[in-house]
Amino acid sequence: MPETKDVETNMPGEAADLILPTHQQAASLKSKDLLSIEHLDASEINLILDTAHHFKEISERPIKKVPTLRGKSIINLFFEPSTRTRMSFEIAAKRLSADIQSISASTSSLVKGETFIDTARNIEAMYPDLLVVRHAFPGAAHMLAEICSAGVINAGDGAHEHPTQALLDALTIRDHKGNIENLRVVIFGDIAHSRVARSNIHCLLKLGANVVVAAPPTFMPCNIEELGVEAFDRLEPALEGADVIVALRIQLERGGKLSFPSLREYFNLFGLGRDRLALAKNDAIVMHPGPINRGVEISSEVADGPQSVILDQVSNGLAVRMAVLYLLAGIGPAKNVKTAA
Ligand code: MLT
Repeated sequence: MPETKDVETNMPGEAADLILPTHQQAASLKSKDLLSIEHLDASEINLILDTAHHFKEISERPIKKVPTLRGKSIINLFFEPSTRTRMSFEIAAKRLSADIQSISASTSSLVKGETFIDTARNIEAMYPDLLVVRHAFPGAAHMLAEICSAGVINAGDGAHEHPTQALLDALTIRDHKGNIENLRVVIFGDIAHSRVARSNIHCLLKLGANVVVAAPPTFMPCNIEELGVEAFDRLEPALEGADVIVALRIQLERGGKLSFPSLREYFNLFGLGRDRLALAKNDAIVMHPGPINRGVEISSEVADGPQSVILDQVSNGLAVRMAVLYLLAGIGPAKNVKTAA
């Protein structure tokens, strides 16, 4: 029988479990919510990444649990399908000893005609500390943040933003490349419908990367250069000299399927196979937020090959979500108290 120990006593010499350097323990984010990367500054992004870096070690322990968020209550509201993000928030919360409850649209009163806002108000009446929200409607998390005193974390709102994905991508790049400044990062595929692309562009530019996007014209948003990126309508010139390549899925559920004739043709013109990967630097890393569509935006050879860091992204997702929960759950200055209007 494995020895069982209380979460507070299972880590010799670490009774307080806060393994963060003192300056990080005192630091905090400016808002009670994490709604977008666009509204974070580089120091907040780096605070999350540094905190996540320290939290990684918890998942490598034999007993993967610390008491940091004991007594905190977190609710996952997932109104769109998700495997990684939802599980990642659940596991992150449990590793920090918070209580977490997950609700999906199909099991909520939304199917009985209740509005999203009424559902949220009812949930808030049960005094959660944090709400994690995924919704097909861009701005859904912002709307909740306005009416709720609990902190709100955007886990993906339509084609708008997916901040924790961008943060875990940045952490993965930093782990593999040492830093992010001046790297050539190529994001390719269905840029137009991708919240991951938008959050990554904001995050990587704030951290000093040179961001390049490549997409067929039907997948490229108008005036994307205004964000500060270089844009290509072919993949080959974009890949030349790349340090990091981020492949994106075609967002069929957001209208992506109307934009190209067939999946086979798409792969021939825009898929990342071994030949195209050879145009990038020899030590370039290949990333994908998942779910991957093999043979559409990426070949199996590349997705499973030595340059792929796709599963590192998943592990880093856990550490980033632990960091975000920690920084927003009221451990720092009292941010979760909203004054009456
Ligand atoms: C997302 O939720 O946006 C995913 O992580 C990426 C995708 O669905 O393609």
